Amino acid sequence: MTSSEIRQKFLEFFEKRGHKIVPSSSLVPENDPSVLFTTAGMQPMVAYLLGQEHPQGKRIVNSQKCFRANDIEEVGDNRHTTFFEMLGNWSFGDYFKKEQISWIFEFLTKEIKLDPKKIYVTAFIGDSAHNLPKDSETAEIWMNLFSEKGILAKEVEFGTEKNASDTGMGDGRIFYYQDKNWWSMSGNPDSMQSGEPGGPDSEMFYEFSDIEHNVSFGKYCHPNCDCGRYVEIGNSVFMEYQKKSDGSFAKLPKQNVDFGGGLERIIAASNNEPDIFKIDTLFPIIKEIERLGGKKYGENFENTKFFRIISDHIRAAVFMIADGVRPSNVERGYILRRLVRRAVVYAHKIGLSYDALAELAQIIADVYEGVYPIESKLVEIKNTLITEVDKFKDTLNKGLKEFEKGTDPFILATTYGFPFELVRELAEERGQIIDRAAFDAKMKEHQRLSRTASAGMFKGGLADHEPKTIKHHTAHHLLLVALKEVLGKDVKQRGSNITQERLRLDFSFNRKLTDEEKKKIEEIVNQKIKEGLPVIRKEMPKKEAEKLGAEMEFGGKYGDIVSVYFIGPSATPQDDAEGKAFSIEFCGGPHVTNTAELYSSSRLVPSEIEGVKSRDIGPFKILKEEAVAAGIRRIKAVVE
Ligand code: SER
Repeated sequence: MTSSEIRQKFLEFFEKRGHKIVPSSSLVPENDPSVLFTTAGMQPMVAYLLGQEHPQGKRIVNSQKCFRANDIEEVGDNRHTTFFEMLGNWSFGDYFKKEQISWIFEFLTKEIKLDPKKIYVTAFIGDSAHNLPKDSETAEIWMNLFSEKGILAKEVEFGTEKNASDTGMGDGRIFYYQDKNWWSMSGNPDSMQSGEPGGPDSEMFYEFSDIEHNVSFGKYCHPNCDCGRYVEIGNSVFMEYQKKSDGSFAKLPKQNVDFGGGLERIIAASNNEPDIFKIDTLFPIIKEIERLGGKKYGENFENTKFFRIISDHIRAAVFMIADGVRPSNVERGYILRRLVRRAVVYAHKIGLSYDALAELAQIIADVYEGVYPIESKLVEIKNTLITEVDKFKDTLNKGLKEFEKGTDPFILATTYGFPFELVRELAEERGQIIDRAAFDAKMKEHQRLSRTASAGMFKGGLADHEPKTIKHHTAHHLLLVALKEVLGKDVKQRGSNITQERLRLDFSFNRKLTDEEKKKIEEIVNQKIKEGLPVIRKEMPKKEAEKLGAEMEFGGKYGDIVSVYFIGPSATPQDDAEGKAFSIEFCGGPHVTNTAELYSSSRLVPSEIEGVKSRDIGPFKILKEEAVAAGIRRIKAVVE
């Protein structure tokens, strides 16, 4: 069956059962600043799960475009992709477990014609620490459905070996787990935020019997085993709890259902084809890579993996660009950049020309014709890909040179965007072994910092949160201090305006600046960028901030508690009291988390700063200096 057939069947199946069909939301969440991408169909539905009325009623069905950045490194096996479509149906305080489980089983076995013997399911074992009961109701519903098909369905509690044969499955059909069967946006009951909805879930797995259990994944096989034999095809979440501020769980006013099914995996199951890349939305891309590159898919393990990574990453990139994302060094743009870079690296490895990558956009547009309007944005998509690939070509070559000089693999990964596998392969070619644990530890820290950077973005009051605008905002603070250093302490800010294109700062001063002075100011700002100073926001009483000498805008109105931004060196209020911070300003943000992020190359965090110290004069540039009124000058500048 094709993707169009299955998508259509799903929508119609639920439409017949009283559901309204709604279109997919964008990959870029519209009203949810807490996440970068839509990662599940339920994400745009959170408000309704919490009780708000959906304009279309209590029963909704759709197919949602999703992207999961967490899975970037998983891509390459038979079943993971970063971009996918999630078939979803929802009950907002309407039907519950019985209807949901029966319908979805009917859909999979009757409409999609999956052999029920190949379907295995899971349920929530309970969590006594959080007072959440075992979901035996779900297991019982499944038990009856299987027995109607003449299938004996034994329950197995995962982790107890009593029911496990050598393959671990025995005649187990319904497997109980804890963490695997609790669903919320932030994971398990512990990590959930106060107010967040969640609940037990029941997943369905399809068995690809030609795949044998591989004991390197554990002695026993089970539905959630990573050996690849069982592939999760759907998940019914029974969204009936909400975390309270004291950490306990209360029942939501209404019981909801949130079902999500991986469209592509369901297609793979319907074709009994364990390789998800062989289905109709992905195989044409693989074929096109064969045509353009001359190599055959599936020749060997490595080559198979590289084809999969390229096709997954370029497809995801195409959808992101179509939804308005552009490559950059922060948040969404950074993820897009990473996808393209990984694709470039793997193209290099299979001898596919870099230019071919942008060409793949055409085939992707063809595949989704009539479903998602990619064709109409094709020129823009291709141009974005071409420019980004071109940029990275140079970085790749530079990075390879750096590598020859013995640069830390972590710098290669973060500054030059090399995937770990590539770094490792390069190292192995030279007889070096990379310490994965040390590398992972550094990467974790790096990601934590990048996430803080994205989280910080949403706190401030600036309407325009474009990464470029944020950089200009931070540069604006640096510029004000530089002006004081060069022109004297009396210089005061008199106005400002910041856009993606440039920053503008008006200040009190009574003559034209000399070229010398302008050069000196640029040097100071660029120096501070190169130093990689942390940028930290603190809330504090206005009085305390004034004592620290925090800069405030002329005529600005401030409450008793103010938000203050400190820029390095160690940037804590204590240090500032001793006069150590370079800049202290009253400001709502948002800002970058480190001045090193003002580098438009691959700069992200301070740990990478070593690599740039001597690279160039720096990204900050004064465009214009002029008079706007008596005693007021205006500087327009950019971060390139
Ligand atoms: N929210 C659940 C998931 O993503 C089901 O839609 O698995």
